[in-house]
Amino acid sequence: MAILAAEVTPSAPPRRRFFRPTWAEVDRGALIRNLRRIRARLKPGVKVMFVVKANAYGHGAPECARAAEAARAADWLGVSSVEEGIALRDAGVRLPVLILGSLYPFESVLAAVAYGLTPIVASLESARRVAEAAERLKRRLDVHVKVDTGMGRIGVRPEAAPELVRRLSASRSVRVQGLYTHLARADEDAAFTARQLKAFRRVVAELAREGLRPPIVHAANSAGALRFPAARFDLVRPGLAAYGLWPGFEPALSLKSKIVFLKTLPKGATVSYGGAWRARRVSRVATLPIGYGDGYPRALSNRARVVVGGRRCPVVGRVTMDQTMVDVTGVPSARVGDDATLIGRQGRAEVPASELARLCGTIPYETVTALSPRVPRVWAAP
Ligand SMILES: Cc1ncc(COP(=O)(O)O)c(C=O)c1O
Repeated sequence: MAILAAEVTPSAPPRRRFFRPTWAEVDRGALIRNLRRIRARLKPGVKVMFVVKANAYGHGAPECARAAEAARAADWLGVSSVEEGIALRDAGVRLPVLILGSLYPFESVLAAVAYGLTPIVASLESARRVAEAAERLKRRLDVHVKVDTGMGRIGVRPEAAPELVRRLSASRSVRVQGLYTHLARADEDAAFTARQLKAFRRVVAELAREGLRPPIVHAANSAGALRFPAARFDLVRPGLAAYGLWPGFEPALSLKSKIVFLKTLPKGATVSYGGAWRARRVSRVATLPIGYGDGYPRALSNRARVVVGGRRCPVVGRVTMDQTMVDVTGVPSARVGDDATLIGRQGRAEVPASELARLCGTIPYETVTALSPRVPRVWAAP
């Protein structure tokens, strides 16, 4: 797989250079195939909102968004803040962008509008702010109303939702383009999900009876879209599956480094802070220039595996801020300069993000999102 420069489109800034051999390789082809695989499950006309918040779950938001836009693999993008939306616009992305988080303070609504980003309305108060912004800017604003059917995070309660939509629809300055909810347990609890969908459908039906059904009704994250066809409505909002972190999809991100130092330790020698690992035999220990400062968690000390020479080798001793040691005794051919795969596949051996997440007692979302800005994102050709 050829490595292109860190940037892929002609409008991108000049290629970035990095010297420390630690990088995250993102496979554009996998990303696009995943989005298409999701679309293939949908009825014609159902749209895909690619969720690229938190720097596209660590994958690099502008590049992911541009790739999806160029391939026409997504119709909308979802971000969590105005800042994330502005970063997409600055990168030349033109797709419609929904800001899934609450907009506060008022200035953030003005900024959203200035950058052509679509705000959500999650309460009477936010409705007032959006209407005020529309009047001040003398523009008609599109908004999506968020209904809280059981997530308990943001949103208007289902019983209050129709009235909020009525009020917004009565205002000449605001158009309710969308109505949506978020599923809290679609990956684990079908009964709870069914209750959420029922409450949501009731709101949609009440509005439809009054001729106020917004044109874009949506509810489904990856789990919702893939496990509950009834949750698909007019648009689905995948994140996890698009990045290939859902069974049956292709992981788009690999975390890679290279051996920069290699030594042979005598039996009994210890490695890293606290001497938390001791060689039980003469051992060859490789040092990789990656640590918790890069988002490779310290909780992986003495626990994770790293693929070197096509074999899964154990991390030994504590992961430090900038460097991590690996026992490569089982790979006699290992040399300085060899590739080490910390997330992803090398030959037949693999360390999936889900494995690191499990070792840290967390979820793959956190594992990939935690990769720090210090790790260059490099685009692999499909
Ligand atoms: C409102 C909303 N929709 C969609 C998603 C995408 O979820 P997933 O990554 O599980 O597909 C998220 C992510 O947390 C979200 O907050």
